[in-house]
Amino acid sequence: MAEMLNGLKRTDMCGNVTAEYVGQEITVMGWVHRRRDLGGLIFLQLRDRSGIVQVVFDTDVCERELLDKASTIKLEYVVTVVGKVRRRIGNNVNPNMKTGEIEVVAEKLQILSEADTTPFSVGDVNANEALRLKYRYLDLRREQLQHNMIVRDSVCRIIRNYLADNGFIEIETPMLGKSTPEGARDYLVPSRVRPGSFYALPQSPQLYKQLLMIGGLDRYYQVARCFRDEDLRANRQPEFTQLDLEMSFVDQEEDVMQLTEGMLRKMFKEIRNVELPEKFVRMPWTECMNRYGSDKPDLRYGMEIQNLDGIAVKSKFAVFQNAVKNGGTVRAIVLKDGADKLSRKELDKLVEFVRTYKVGGLAWYGLGSEGVKCSFAKAVDAGELDEIKQSIGMAQGDIALIVADTDWQTAVVALGALRCHLAAKFNMYKAGDFACLWVVDFPLFEYSEEQGRFVAMHHPFTSPKNEDLQYMLTDPARVRAKAYDVVINGDEMGGGSMRIYNREVQKTMFEVLGFTDEQIAEKFGFFVDAFKYGTPPHGGLALGLDRLVMVLTDTTNIKDVIAFPKIQNASCLMTEAPSTVDEAQLRELRIRCESDD
Ligand code: AMO
Repeated sequence: MAEMLNGLKRTDMCGNVTAEYVGQEITVMGWVHRRRDLGGLIFLQLRDRSGIVQVVFDTDVCERELLDKASTIKLEYVVTVVGKVRRRIGNNVNPNMKTGEIEVVAEKLQILSEADTTPFSVGDVNANEALRLKYRYLDLRREQLQHNMIVRDSVCRIIRNYLADNGFIEIETPMLGKSTPEGARDYLVPSRVRPGSFYALPQSPQLYKQLLMIGGLDRYYQVARCFRDEDLRANRQPEFTQLDLEMSFVDQEEDVMQLTEGMLRKMFKEIRNVELPEKFVRMPWTECMNRYGSDKPDLRYGMEIQNLDGIAVKSKFAVFQNAVKNGGTVRAIVLKDGADKLSRKELDKLVEFVRTYKVGGLAWYGLGSEGVKCSFAKAVDAGELDEIKQSIGMAQGDIALIVADTDWQTAVVALGALRCHLAAKFNMYKAGDFACLWVVDFPLFEYSEEQGRFVAMHHPFTSPKNEDLQYMLTDPARVRAKAYDVVINGDEMGGGSMRIYNREVQKTMFEVLGFTDEQIAEKFGFFVDAFKYGTPPHGGLALGLDRLVMVLTDTTNIKDVIAFPKIQNASCLMTEAPSTVDEAQLRELRIRCESDD
């Protein structure tokens, strides 16, 4: 039978009761984590957010009645125990537990709440994931998830203190708003009072934060929930959190970058006791692509992409020569000591792997213990192989993996993906390594084959670099942006830019993007208008809070850092959202659903 607290007050959290408490009477409350019944002796492990403490019911010291009550207790019951702390002796000492030197000898027991047998054993990470998500509140009792939530809280607190110290104020922006230019699909909310009209949930507070700068708020930040209806990945959720910030009277990327570095340094120091560098590496986008085939390179390991164009252009192997002659490139990565590690079967799998990145194939040239193994040996002579070996610095035991393609970006992206794949396969990094960098000088535009026009790589309010302004209309592909991404361990942690605050530049930007005046007015009229009335130079960035917590807690699954995450198809297994609604609700909104067939 469940009891009331009857005025009993918790004196301590379970995980805090250490040897210093010996002799004291304490009151702890929590869930029954484990139980062992040895007849006259019952051991319970009691768990709360702080950890676990051992409780003992011992007929030598307690009433029979208390022991009988303890014997009715099952796992996950919620109980209060009043008892005296005593030192454990001999084998009972558990050096792996913070509370392992003591136990609480129960004097009083209250059953606050009984529990049915749980659908999976609490704490079991191997239990079926769908089941754990359906009963998320039970999985949240797991130590690792609680730890992740605590880290998440610490991250927010550190951010808030740091930004307050730097003159920022936290301001909330609307959830029910107008579509923003982040480029994913919107989540829409129908308006009841204006049937046929919809709000868009924010993909980011981008427009609002710029308007706050025009509104004179000077330095803003927000721990902002964002919504994007896009395909889910291990590091993507349909609703996620950004630490969003914007600052006025800055026009250099450096201002925002230095501030962000300081914030990340503080966070990694306080949470992981890791000193991040004073200044992160800054690497232009083109260099990133050339060296790592990625705009978010993982710098924890080398294996950089190397250029074989000089050899390829005169190669006897037609695939190499044609790629270069047709305006493309031949690039390679070298897997140190990889020649013997990669069997023929595995190499075939790697060919399939790179093909998913739209290249024709993968050539290899290895210096294995059983001699040279080379997929294009028949086409070339020994001299050429030797030249390749010298050119990319191969040693005995290494293997070169080579991609030829008529499109530079396709070639480097495929090799970049292969580089990451191999690094993971051969454990080329370890937990606790953190490699940070800024990717800078992004192209302002990218050409969309689909739309047959240039589109903004970041968004249409990102400022071009001053020295590239002259190419805006004549050679848009050449214009670089005052945009920057911060990358940690090969994952994009955040990104931002300096914004356009000059009306002429904004006009040119829209011209390149091919927007008509009507389209501008319809999409961002309120926003563009605001720039007429005095706009400070401003810029900012947004960090993906979930991704930061992932890095700080060494997890590769974003669900591990969100209390109530969604699954692949953007649904919630616990609440079963999204769900159908009453016909009356739909009628009120003047919405009619079409059936699938
Ligand atoms: P951006 O679109 O780059 O920039 O987003 C900023 C950061 O948010 C994180 N992020 C996500 N995290 C989890 N799930 C998602 N679906 C998801 N999408 C993005 C990433 C990313 O780097 N308004 C601009 C910022 C600015 O210019 O100030 C913006 O939103 O870590």
